[in-house]
Amino acid sequence: MSNIRVIAIDGYAATGKSTLAKKLASELNYRYMDTGSMFRVLTYQAMTQGFLKDDRLDNTAFEAFLSKNHFYWEGSTLGFNQQVLRNEIRTYEVSTNVSKIAALPYVRKFALKSQRDLAQGHSIVMDGRDIGTVVFPEAKYKFFLDASPEVRAQRRWEEMQQQGSTVSLEAILENIRARDKEDSERAIAPLRKADDALLIDTSNQNIEEVFQTLLSHLV
Ligand code: DC
Repeated sequence: MSNIRVIAIDGYAATGKSTLAKKLASELNYRYMDTGSMFRVLTYQAMTQGFLKDDRLDNTAFEAFLSKNHFYWEGSTLGFNQQVLRNEIRTYEVSTNVSKIAALPYVRKFALKSQRDLAQGHSIVMDGRDIGTVVFPEAKYKFFLDASPEVRAQRRWEEMQQQGSTVSLEAILENIRARDKEDSERAIAPLRKADDALLIDTSNQNIEEVFQTLLSHLV
């Protein structure tokens, strides 16, 4: 990875990874890659293009669809299948399906190749679940964020309320617990802290405090 400089921010759902990664990228003038959004886009496509129906995914058709499409940089944002997706991939429905799709071997293979290709030639901050362990194990800096499920659910609920969502706090907590379990128990590239990543518990820290901690570790 000689021509790539990576800062990896991994961790559990709703720990503030994206906000921090974006902020850090802007501070350092690095590019930002939100790898969770890639799995969300693929999930959204599976749901809206009819590959996922009544909880059943047509793997043959979905795999063929992936082989005909690719992620690309649209400015500094990721595009896929001629679309730059924003809020539609953050819905509760996408969140309930994404971990199952992200566990599929052919989806992980597709995402891994896309992530490595898209990082080429950039100094980049990447957030996700397996950046420090699998995608770029040789990343120069690695952080792993955690917080209690209750704190994370409360934060996500407040965020979604502001966007006009009516999903209950209990449903969000349940989704977060289910995703934690599925993401950390899957066979390929499970969510886990890399041995050389710095663990930060954000339960009692706001974004600015965590941001300062991150900055203080970069030399
Ligand atoms: O970061 P997020 O909540 O938007 O991620 C959505 C899902 O994508 C998450 O539950 C698991 C999956 N994911 C993954 O498997 N590997 C990554 N590097 C990033 C996300």
